[in-house]
Amino acid sequence: MLNEHRAGTGADTGPTSDQLRISRSAEFHDFPWPAVGDRGYTGRMTDSSEPTYQQSIPTLSTDRYTLPALGFGTYRLWGKSGAQSTETALSMGYRLIDSAYNYENEGTVGAGIRAAIDKGIVSRNDVTVTSKLPGRYHEHDKALSAIEESLYRTGLDYIDLYLIHWPNPKQGKYVEAWKTLMEARDRGLIRNIGVCNFTPEHLDTLEQETGELPVINQVELHPYFNQADTRAYDTEHGIITEAWSPLARGAVFEEDTIVSIAKNHDASVGQVVLAWHRAIGSLAIPKSASEKRQKENLDSLHVTLTSDEVEAINALTKTDGREKDQDPDEYEEF
Ligand SMILES: NC(=O)c1ccc[n+]([C@@H]2O[C@H](COP(=O)([O-])OP(=O)(O)OC[C@H]3O[C@@H](n4cnc5c(N)ncnc54)[C@H](OP(=O)(O)O)[C@@H]3O)[C@@H](O)[C@H]2O)c1
Repeated sequence: MLNEHRAGTGADTGPTSDQLRISRSAEFHDFPWPAVGDRGYTGRMTDSSEPTYQQSIPTLSTDRYTLPALGFGTYRLWGKSGAQSTETALSMGYRLIDSAYNYENEGTVGAGIRAAIDKGIVSRNDVTVTSKLPGRYHEHDKALSAIEESLYRTGLDYIDLYLIHWPNPKQGKYVEAWKTLMEARDRGLIRNIGVCNFTPEHLDTLEQETGELPVINQVELHPYFNQADTRAYDTEHGIITEAWSPLARGAVFEEDTIVSIAKNHDASVGQVVLAWHRAIGSLAIPKSASEKRQKENLDSLHVTLTSDEVEAINALTKTDGREKDQDPDEYEEF
């Protein structure tokens, strides 16, 4: 167990090391760990038989589940270029890939993963593939069909992590969806199950109704909306908190506090934001179509913030800091 990434000791600087462990045990990844700038980064990784850049990613664990501490988002990656971006991300060292039925790119992502496997870049066991159940398919039979459809679209034999995309509490069927995910896991279609956008109240309901909590809860989480309450609940219940829109889709890039911390570290603003996620125990899944920014985001693993810097970024959170006002108690997505 290694906790060197954690900066700060306050209640809002992340879970205790007993609750959440970040490790460089290379459980997933055997790549070397080059210092920033150790290797030249040139050309397209996937055109080269000898990759020019690879980054080992530490793991993040609860007692129930282990994931790479940094993942790769794929929203709006489509078609040939999207498959190429996914393959390139795997070449560089990303091992946690986030897709969803509703992104209409499970085929794209699956093609990128299968190409990487075919070229010997990764083995299937090295990759954690995530997809998500849409709100319109929360009922049992529809949910099972959607999961099977996701499998066909990816062209994979199983999906590692399948999540309920939104709780849609007004529709009121997320418990039925959860029970169906449990069944699909028992049938071997998916390996692990989780949720997105669940509040502590929704999670309590799952536990009361089914006796089982998700292994991860993926929520909107960035410096303007840091989800301290949900993170505390998740940690207490052995749930990994995964951050969607971890860079706030760029909305935080001109924030003076972060710009000035970035200058201190000779790092980019994006790298500082991702280092902050790591420091508070949040698993970020930044999306980038660009090889350069994929690499930049991986290199955030070399940036370690001081506890004061973490606190300064924590202080930027706002009650209305959501990017698109998507409060899961009100907002519904189908
Ligand atoms: N469960 C949910 O409800 C939910 C909701 C939203 C998103 N998600 C997941 O979370 C993932 C990440 O969230 P997101 O895509 O919304 O937002 P994000 O990762 O915060 O930001 C992505 C944007 O930032 C740019 N970018 C990436 N790295 C950068 C860097 N180092 N410097 C400057 N710009 C950079 C990207 O452009 P380029 O591509 O041009 O680099 C893209 O426009 C999604 O892709 C999706 O997988 C889940």
